[in-house]
Amino acid sequence: MDGQASQAADASINKAVIIVMDSTDRSRRARSASMAESVSAHVTMVPLHLITPIIHALTRDRLNGCPPKVQGWVSTVMNKRGDHMTGLITMDDLTNEAILEILDDAERLLPVARGDTYLPLLQGKILGNLFFEPSTRTRMSFETAMKRLGGDVVNLGDVKTSSVVKGETLYDTIQMVDGYTDIIAMRHPRQGAAQYAQDSARVPVLNGGDGAGHHPTQTMLDLFTIRQAHGSLEGLKVVLAGDLRYGRTVHSLSHALTRFGCELVLASPSLLRMPREILDDLTAHGAIVTETEDLLGSINEADVVYMTRIQKERFADEDEYTKVAGAYKLHANNLEGAKASMIIMHPLPRVDEIHPSVDGTRHARYFEQAFNGVVARMALLCRLLGVSVPADVPQGGEA
Ligand code: NCD
Repeated sequence: MDGQASQAADASINKAVIIVMDSTDRSRRARSASMAESVSAHVTMVPLHLITPIIHALTRDRLNGCPPKVQGWVSTVMNKRGDHMTGLITMDDLTNEAILEILDDAERLLPVARGDTYLPLLQGKILGNLFFEPSTRTRMSFETAMKRLGGDVVNLGDVKTSSVVKGETLYDTIQMVDGYTDIIAMRHPRQGAAQYAQDSARVPVLNGGDGAGHHPTQTMLDLFTIRQAHGSLEGLKVVLAGDLRYGRTVHSLSHALTRFGCELVLASPSLLRMPREILDDLTAHGAIVTETEDLLGSINEADVVYMTRIQKERFADEDEYTKVAGAYKLHANNLEGAKASMIIMHPLPRVDEIHPSVDGTRHARYFEQAFNGVVARMALLCRLLGVSVPADVPQGGEA
């Protein structure tokens, strides 16, 4: 297996593992053989010249645009089990209509999220929380959402104390949790891992972040927060700022916002620009997108300024990180010319990109945004478990 193919195999975990047996290097061949063994049901042998279109298909989660033969192979691997329920891996899994319905459900669930109303819609259901990467808000809000709705949660817990350290494959872990639970929320450092989990599980999988890939449940709470502030998602001007290269929240959010006709300003240092394939996809669908390095110059026109943390953990080279660390620091003084209705969002955790002076301004919305993670995830859990949210949720007391 050569270097390129080895990288491809690594990147392709979302649908299959590709093994290209053209290497003269014995240790590489042995490694690929052992990888093949560990994922036996998910191996495809391909000749080297077809590797590029396959990587393209596998890493973009969509088969459109790749040769029919490749589409056939990938679909075969994806449908091997053919008996899984569909989860939420990227925003492409939801139509605009479904997004709005889920946001409406989330709105009705606000009293339940606040603890004012007890509504055990998910009694008897178990959520499996599989977080292979650090998480505070996503993991805790999934857990809160499930418990507020009368359901239960089992956690993988610290990866260091699970069988993962004994070398258990993701495939095996998923097989086991699939049997223990009704739905899985998963975060993994590897892009495509959530799709891979969904392809090998019967229960729905909610992607809580896959490497620098996607973070669709975050997008749902972001959309909820934007709609709460502006009354609608249509036609807003949204600045996405910071680490657009590795930030999975903005990858998912940019897709969703442009589907609702929002105009995007992408403000980042040149090293951290939005990946070309995402940009191309947005513009190919008619989105109005501008790239700039000038965050402060973009604020006065904006309806939403969405700040992000520079994803230190995803840099291969520490020196590269040092070049861009602290690139944007928003201070209350920078907001004097902003529209009164403009909101500042951040998926959190923040490092130094939003100065605490912003917290007390009318624009700061990031803590409400974090709370909205509970309602958005409640609505998603209900939807994927096939449970309807009643049209009239009592505002307080017993349901
Ligand atoms: C984000 C993530 O994990 O991608 N956090 C979150 O889910 N609230 C953003 C980040 O870590 O910077």
